[in-house]
Amino acid sequence: MFARMRADIVAIKERDPACTSTLSALTNYPGLWAVWWHRVTHRLHKAGWVWLARAISQSVRHHTGIEIHPGATIGQDFFIDHGMGVVIGETTVIGRCVTLYQGVTLGGTGKERGKRHPTIEDNVVVGVGATILGDIVIGHGTKVGAGAVVVQAVPPSCTVVGIPGRVVVREGQRVETVDLHHEDLPDPVVEMFRTLQHRIDRLENRLARDEDRAQEEGHPAFSSGTDSTDTRG
Ligand SMILES: CC(C)(COP(=O)(O)OP(=O)(O)OC[C@H]1O[C@@H](n2cnc3c(N)ncnc32)[C@H](O)[C@@H]1OP(=O)(O)O)[C@@H](O)C(=O)NCCC(=O)NCCS
Repeated sequence: MFARMRADIVAIKERDPACTSTLSALTNYPGLWAVWWHRVTHRLHKAGWVWLARAISQSVRHHTGIEIHPGATIGQDFFIDHGMGVVIGETTVIGRCVTLYQGVTLGGTGKERGKRHPTIEDNVVVGVGATILGDIVIGHGTKVGAGAVVVQAVPPSCTVVGIPGRVVVREGQRVETVDLHHEDLPDPVVEMFRTLQHRIDRLENRLARDEDRAQEEGHPAFSSGTDSTDTRG
């Protein structure tokens, strides 16, 4: 147990340059307190002390701003930086060496039962304010950008950003996205009228040429000087 606690402190020192000492890690990192208390509540939850486990986790939330459901499974070297506003749902599974920043939600979509929260694989970093919803897997080594809303599984070693989350980097390579330029999409009705107008113009020109030729050749239809076939309006 003490080895694990020491590893938690080392994880903070390694991942946050602002943490300069063990004392600082112990006193200034609510994420550390939340994780330690979670280990207690998780055991209680597994032992069937569900109400007590939740009551303790709510009290921890009150003091740290971090709500970790006692049912969540969390691996080693887990680090929550700053912490305030973090919510981790009951069926969440978190691997090793995962980092979360403040305001992260690992939640359910509200449409599922049973396993309804994300699985976060090893070495994932989830940026400030990001939301990951549903029983989806975030592959190992992936970075979830600040403010992203992820509702679909993400392969390993990716960077996912935006709402809804889209992969912009995969295994170190930029993923090109097609820019549709929605403001420039053609209007099919206008296009059809343009085509019709073009055809009408061509037909009128052709008719005019035929009429001129017929007049020159003295065709009977034009001999009286009247133009009964004029379609030019
Ligand atoms: C996503 C992140 C990890 C960068 O990952 P990366 O693999 O180095 O990606 P890049 O910086 O090369 O960015 C790739 C593209 O995503 C965009 N992007 C990066 N982060 C983004 C974000 N949070 N939201 C939207 N777009 C983002 C970049 O502008 C870039 O776009 P472009 O291809 O049009 O130029 C980083 O931007 C981030 O959000 N980190 C979170 C850190 C955090 O929460 N800190 C809190 C401290 S209190």
